[in-house]
Amino acid sequence: MPFVKVVEDAGTIAVGQGTLVESGGVAVAVFNGGGGRFYACGATCPHEDGPLAEGWIEGEAVVCPWHGFDFDLRTGRCQVAEGLSVPVYPARVAEGAVEVDLP
Ligand code: FES
Repeated sequence: MPFVKVVEDAGTIAVGQGTLVESGGVAVAVFNGGGGRFYACGATCPHEDGPLAEGWIEGEAVVCPWHGFDFDLRTGRCQVAEGLSVPVYPARVAEGAVEVDLP
């Protein structure tokens, strides 16, 4: 699938924070990792359905706000609970907007 614009102004997402978007019926958490790095993953934590978009970035991972499980945003794998993972999607900034490549 081609990249689709999901956030009009990348600057509206604070560094280290995320926002929830929906595109094509898919709920996606989009994060600003700082230094021009943006990430996107599934919006729901596979532990107990916590809201990952309300989590925060530590290194290359998002930390779930409910119980602190962290997920590597390059692979989707949980770093504390083997076997848990979230879908991750390529994300980029183009002309100031965040675009995500959804399946
Ligand atoms: S719901 Fe995300 S860590 Fe528990």
